[in-house]
Amino acid sequence: MSDLTFSTGSAAAARADLLVLPVFAGPEAGPGVKEVGLQGAFAAAKLTGKREEQLLVTEGHRATAGAVLLIGVGERQGFDANRLRVALAKAAPTVARFGTVATTFPLAIGGRGADEALQATAEGLLLGSYRFDRYRTTATDLPSPIRKITVLGAAKADAKAAKAALERGRVVAESVNWARDLVNTPAGDMSPAQIAREAQKMARQVGLPCKVWGEAELKRGAFGGILGVGAGSVNPPRLIELTYKGDGAATPIALTGKGIAFDSGGLSIKDAKNMESMKDDMGGAASILAAMRVIARLKPKVNVIAAIPCSENMPSGSATKPGDVLVHRGGRTSEVLNTDAEGRLVLADSLAYLVEKKPRVIIDTATLTGACMVALGEDITGAMGNDSEVMGDVLSAGEAVGEPVWELPLWAGYKRQIESPIADVKNIGDRWGGAITAALFLAEFVGDVPWVHLDIAGPAFRERPGDLGPRGATGVPVRTLVRYVLDHASS
Ligand code: BES
Ligand code: ZN
Ligand code: MN
Repeated sequence: MSDLTFSTGSAAAARADLLVLPVFAGPEAGPGVKEVGLQGAFAAAKLTGKREEQLLVTEGHRATAGAVLLIGVGERQGFDANRLRVALAKAAPTVARFGTVATTFPLAIGGRGADEALQATAEGLLLGSYRFDRYRTTATDLPSPIRKITVLGAAKADAKAAKAALERGRVVAESVNWARDLVNTPAGDMSPAQIAREAQKMARQVGLPCKVWGEAELKRGAFGGILGVGAGSVNPPRLIELTYKGDGAATPIALTGKGIAFDSGGLSIKDAKNMESMKDDMGGAASILAAMRVIARLKPKVNVIAAIPCSENMPSGSATKPGDVLVHRGGRTSEVLNTDAEGRLVLADSLAYLVEKKPRVIIDTATLTGACMVALGEDITGAMGNDSEVMGDVLSAGEAVGEPVWELPLWAGYKRQIESPIADVKNIGDRWGGAITAALFLAEFVGDVPWVHLDIAGPAFRERPGDLGPRGATGVPVRTLVRYVLDHASS
């Protein structure tokens, strides 16, 4: 765990292996650059301060630190916590080579955004130096953990509030990185039971009540969707229930996330190429677990319940067959015409279960449809829901933390696509509009509870490095969920 400290000392005097300073477009020296005598360095190197430019200076500077890394951050206008987080995340692999680091980045924002800037500094450095090396037996050039981060802030700053902001950043980043670990771990080592064990371990560490429903309990509880999807696998399903109480008897916010440990498609089997990445099909579950971890640590005045369905979707003699009808929690039935549209089947149960708890709102997140990726690409989360106020709040939460979320219509006109001739609903629509028909299926199970569904099929996992981390699991939308919950806590 990296050591995080706040200091009001000068950049020139900061003790660290590396000092990281921003340079705005121009180039225009950011906080600390003149102090260490490097105001001319960017121009001399023919750099203009564009985003992503970097200049490592190891001699000829006046810093106590061994080396100085100057980072281009673009126009001063509009430089905010989101841009700061990305700039530091991109520099983080370089930073990690040095071991200890000091930075003036939050001073480039200051004023009312100071706390957010401090939080984003910790997040950027810790998210950007994430690595997944559990399965490497030989040395790699992956970043090693940053040992110590010293954040330089304004002399008039409230040191206690600053320290708290840094700790918030640490909790968020460590939780996002934990979600990334869960998703990056191959399905062979991350069965539904294993996800549940990880959840229990986390819950113990942060003091969160956790109940895991086993197969027998799921049968007694009539969770036909979770059981039906898991029927073909030798790894039985689980339902993970977490309860956070921070506000007495207030009605809770309810969260759920798709936890398909592996999605082979079942009997409607995927081809080899489309199956390659399907260990990531529990990304929704991982992000809810991580959001609960943050909430338990930050202790906002709000109540939150999470019910996370975990099944493995496999073909076998015992698998659910196309044409089978499942009876979900609460009694609604669905006709399974394509066993590869399994996420909605497990979520139907968890949504119905959460509705029983009479929450004020339900948010679900799921790697649900390839169609959503076609619509919005790899970086943007698709949002659909039945309540414009909650939708607006979720979109703002995403915007505030720099996780792009875009609303797609939950258009009732497509409902006939999921009418079944024999059951209450069927689990696939026609060829087009697949993200919407999937959401319309989910809507059947939320009744009139205000609800937003986040389709993260695109952003959950990246084949190439992104703004805030390497190739692989991203941890989206943990930060959006946390922000939404914190925004709805009483003060
Ligand atoms: N887990 C997939 C969706 C997915 C695809 C996530 C690609 C990430 C990347 C989901 O279970 C699925 O298979 N959906 C089908 C639904 C179809 C059968 C109606 C799809 O999108 O093709
Ligand atoms: Zn799936
Ligand atoms: Mn599928």
